[in-house]
Amino acid sequence: CMVRHYKFNVVLKNTTRLCSTKPIVTVNGRYPGPTIVAREDDTILVKVVNHVKYNLSIHWHGIRQLRTGWADGPAYITQCPIQPGQSYVYNFTVTGQRGTLFWHAHILWLRATVHGAIVILPKRGVPYPFPKPHKEEIVILGEWWKSDVEAVINEALKSGLAPNVSDAHTINGHPGSTPSCPSKGGYTLAVKPGKTYMLRIINAALNEELFFMIAGHQLTVVEVDATYVKPFKTDTIVISPGQTTNVHVTTHRRAGKYLVAASPFMDAPIAVDNLTATATLHYAGSLTSAATTLVSPPPKNATSVAANFTNALRSLNSKKYPAKVPLKIDHSLLFTIGLGINPCSTCVNGSRVVASVNNITFVMPKTALLQAHFFNINGVFTTDFPGRPPVPFNYTSIQLTNLGTKQATKLYRLGYNDTVQLVLQDTGMITPENHPIHLHGFNFFEVGRGVGNFDPKKDPKNFNLVDPVERNTIGVPSGGWTAIRFRADNPGVWFMHCHLEVHTTWGLKMAFVVDNGKGPNESLLPPPSDLPKC
Ligand code: C2O
Repeated sequence: CMVRHYKFNVVLKNTTRLCSTKPIVTVNGRYPGPTIVAREDDTILVKVVNHVKYNLSIHWHGIRQLRTGWADGPAYITQCPIQPGQSYVYNFTVTGQRGTLFWHAHILWLRATVHGAIVILPKRGVPYPFPKPHKEEIVILGEWWKSDVEAVINEALKSGLAPNVSDAHTINGHPGSTPSCPSKGGYTLAVKPGKTYMLRIINAALNEELFFMIAGHQLTVVEVDATYVKPFKTDTIVISPGQTTNVHVTTHRRAGKYLVAASPFMDAPIAVDNLTATATLHYAGSLTSAATTLVSPPPKNATSVAANFTNALRSLNSKKYPAKVPLKIDHSLLFTIGLGINPCSTCVNGSRVVASVNNITFVMPKTALLQAHFFNINGVFTTDFPGRPPVPFNYTSIQLTNLGTKQATKLYRLGYNDTVQLVLQDTGMITPENHPIHLHGFNFFEVGRGVGNFDPKKDPKNFNLVDPVERNTIGVPSGGWTAIRFRADNPGVWFMHCHLEVHTTWGLKMAFVVDNGKGPNESLLPPPSDLPKC
């Protein structure tokens, strides 16, 4: 196995989109940022140097970080931020993982522009479990604000209102032609006729689930969140912030130009965010002036398109890639997730929007939780996070008594190798949005999903314990529930949160603390000497 070295200089860079220019925070001056390439079991060292005025940290989204939680990256969870002028070397090994993941800033809203792909190839000599594509391409979906992104969220936090939605979606950093800046072409994917391409699609948008499609071409899904799936064909994929999807696209025999589109799914009803990002699939030999075949994305509330896609996802579950679903459960948990309202005397309406898990709005600590855990620093967190919601109620209707949330820094404690079943129940109290819930440190299996309230007697009978999809981020359906299972085989402190950045900011987050095991390789390693201090 190899050691791969990268250097990330975090710098401001003037960037023009939507016909206007502003300085943005970037890695090495690039948006999207550089791609990290490695093979399964390689070690990656990334030296991150902070040249901007913001505190900073970088997360390697989906990398399990076995025993190396110090390199996971969420600010105040596993590390204190890298301060302006300082640096930190993230040092980790990609044990037993291959596929598409991504890295992003994990503090404030900096990930809007600070993100890039991680491509982990199989070990040398190990083939893909599907035909080798002619070529591979990275497709990063994102969002663009004309104004300063940090200002957008800071104003919202002051007023207690929802932040402004973005001004455009992007494909590999470009919106394509939009009403406000129509002449601009978007990203171009050059292809040859009669070949199969693998697109490594990443949703790096802050707040938007997206549909993705290509005019005149079917997509064959082969992998999600860096785990292989049983291949299936679809016209449209659905991808939440934090998710990655590899698809194969086979080109026709004839030349042509085809529109590629990324459009929003299930926006909050109040948001006027209908903009579709476009790119072009350009066949070699077709004239630039040739007409482009258009595509019409599903309407943004096309829940059935999303449900069909999600229902088709299955683990490969082959001899070589078995689905190791935990069958005996040590902790059976039910977490309600959703938005609520808390009083706020300085806010515009006398109240502010908050979000919660089991009615607890997570308060960020001043010291990183992992440090507090490792060095036994008292008073930073408690381990009494409730395994069930406080009172039974109908989760899918508004009940005023449940709108006030508690503010606390509570963690849920797990023993080494304990197995967990977690039902995530959306309370759908304010907006009909799905919540893409991301768990750090683990992959999990999605064993069940449904609309309405989870029924602990009936629903588990229908769980798929054979070939459920394995991933790190799952869209919990609006007004419904998702059941996941995982094994706590990674000691440390692991963040779990909604990957809609606005919901994370409002408090839709919590963390698990996993104890060390007794065996020789079952303990969290000591922190590196350059770990930033708070
Ligand atoms: Cu991709 Cu905690 O995040």
